[in-house]
Formats: sequence, structure tokens, C-alpha cells
Amino acid sequence: MKISDCNNIMDFRLIARRKLPAAIFHYLDGGADDEWTLGRNTAAFNDYELLPAQLSDVSNVSLKTKLFGEEVDWPVMISPTGASKLFHAAGEPAVIRAAEKFGMVYSLSTLGTMTIEDVSAACSGPKMYQLYIFKDRELTRDLIDRCKAAGFRALCLTVDTPVAGNRERDHVYGFATGKFKLRSVPSMLRHPGWLYRVLVKNDLDMVNLATSVRPDQFADMSLLEYFNSQLDRSLTWKDVEWLAAQWDGPLVIKGVQTVADCRNAANSGATAVMLSNHGGRQLEGAPAPVDCIADVADALHDKLEIICDGGVRRGTHVIKALALGASACSIGRGYLYPLAAGGQAGVERGLQLLRDEVARTMALLGCDSIGKLGSSFIRRRR
Ligand code: GLV
Repeated sequence: MKISDCNNIMDFRLIARRKLPAAIFHYLDGGADDEWTLGRNTAAFNDYELLPAQLSDVSNVSLKTKLFGEEVDWPVMISPTGASKLFHAAGEPAVIRAAEKFGMVYSLSTLGTMTIEDVSAACSGPKMYQLYIFKDRELTRDLIDRCKAAGFRALCLTVDTPVAGNRERDHVYGFATGKFKLRSVPSMLRHPGWLYRVLVKNDLDMVNLATSVRPDQFADMSLLEYFNSQLDRSLTWKDVEWLAAQWDGPLVIKGVQTVADCRNAANSGATAVMLSNHGGRQLEGAPAPVDCIADVADALHDKLEIICDGGVRRGTHVIKALALGASACSIGRGYLYPLAAGGQAGVERGLQLLRDEVARTMALLGCDSIGKLGSSFIRRRR
């Protein structure tokens, strides 16, 4: 199978599975505990039906919308994910170029393998930086200052990782500890290009932390251990207020599901929420983001932009989320499978397929602009 044979996002997964060492594929593909939440994220879209308004003149369908105060070409953005170079040598630059071509917001993760400054130089489109508030507030502030200087449009705080989720596939292969188990070795040997890059070129450093932290601050630990030691479990919404004051721009809280938390986000100075359970990788049992949209939109649509993050694999998923009240959707695995399958060309083909699906669904639904999507186009399956 080649990327030109892929007809939808999940087709790329089949190539990714072949191209990646097993430990890496399962890190990308897996979720927490029994992976119930992971499965629900996509399956929950099937609990909704789309209701077309026929003969509505769809000769000109526009997908343009606004996100973080800027016009974007369609209502899908790139979610922050760690270490793109784990999945393909082309890494973040490939995703940046594809996102730019498709007029989307690009997000850089704190665990990314490209620096804030290099992303800024490579990406002229709107950018978001995903941050953790570290125990060392000076380190946190330094990252914020670097984002300001680099012209990032939005800052995103991930709030669903006070501890790491229980990803059992990572235990099987040893990914969780950073010490790969013997059973992951044969598959790595079958992927010598990957092995060379990781072992010889040392291509996977968390370069953003490495830039902001002095080596003597993590003298007797790896950078990953230092990162884990810096995650602050004592955070509260007061810290979001602190962050909002530091940033003074679009502030996104990622990893909330309830109206109460979204209200806290708005009251603490956030301008957007990502309804997200971290792709089913953290709290098993958390609801699918699509099921959280309607209540949050009812209560807070005039205070927050609402981004549905999780399970989006199809254009119909995007349209369902927007009809329920989301401002946009974001994709993680939705671009990582294509990246792993074919680098920049893979991501571009994946985005093209998804965008075509969104445009086709709008026409079949009888809706010619994103702003018109609403409750008349959707109902819960009976
Ligand atoms: C990192 O955020 C991960 O989910 O692996």
C-alpha cells in the first residue's frame, strides 16, 4: 500500500504500522488502560445524525472561519503532539509546511523536536505553543517570553497530565521507562533508518527545554526525567490567572470536559478550551470530546472558543462537532499517521482527503458556510 492508495485518514495508519518500529507505532496508536475512552472518542460521533436541508444552493461552499482572531481556510487545526521526529525524519517542518499550505493553525508541543525559534522561522501562518506550567516558574516564564518574541499567536496550557496515564502498550515494549524491552528489539532492527537517526544522529531531544534549562539544572538526570520532575501537581485555576497575566493574548486550556471546568477557564482569563482527553491517553473513563460540546456551547459560547480535540478521522466528524457548537476541531493522530506513512507528502494527502470530506459534507448537508452550521443540522440518534 502506498500513500496514493490511501482514501481516508485511517488508511495511513496501516502504512504507519508497517513503517514504524512496534514500540513507536504502539506509543502513537495506544491509549490508557483498556482504551475504552480512546475508542469512544471516534465511536461517539456515530451517536449523532446529520440532517440535510436539501435544495439550498450550495454552488459556492466556503469553509473559511476564524480562530484565535485570525482567518483560517477551514475549521481544523493541528493539535500539539510530542516528538514528531519519532515518527518520521521530516518531523515538525513537514507538518508546518503542510499546515501552511492548507491554511491551518500549527501547534508546537513542549515535547516537540524543534525549537520555538526555528518553528517561527519556518512557519508564517498562525501558531500556538503548548505549555506545561513547571515547578520552576522562571523556566515557564522563559518559555512564554520566547513564544512572545517568536510571534506565536496563542498559548495553550495542557491540564490533564498531573501524572502520566497508564499506557499499557508502552509497558509491553518498554517505551514508558525509556528502556526498551528485549521484545521491541527485532522490530527496531527491521527499521535501521529509524535506529540510525535515533542512536547516531540523536534526533529526538526535547530541544525547547534544552534551550531554556542550564545543563547543571539537570546534571544527574536525563532531560525526560528532568521534565517529569518539573511537572507541578499542585496547580490550580489561580495558576491559570497567573499565566493569563503573563501571556496577554489568546489563551487555550487543553484537556477539559465539563461545563464547570470550562467556566473556570473563562473566569481565569482563558479565551478558548480544547475539549480533550489527551487522545484517550490519560484518564480512562473520560467522555468523548464530541459528547461534551453541546453543554459547554450552551453555557459558554459567548465567552470561549470551543475546540473539539479527539477522535476526528472524517469530514463528517468535523461537521458534527461544529453543528453541536464547536468553533473548530483539532487533529493529532489524524496527521501523525499520515506523517509516519509518508512525511510531508503523507500529511498533505491526509489533509487534502479530510478537507475534501469536509467540503463534500457541507454540500450534501445543504450548508454553504461554516457560520450557518447549527443545531438544525444534527440530532442524537434515536
Ligand atoms: C504526550 O503528551 C503523550 O500523550 O504521549
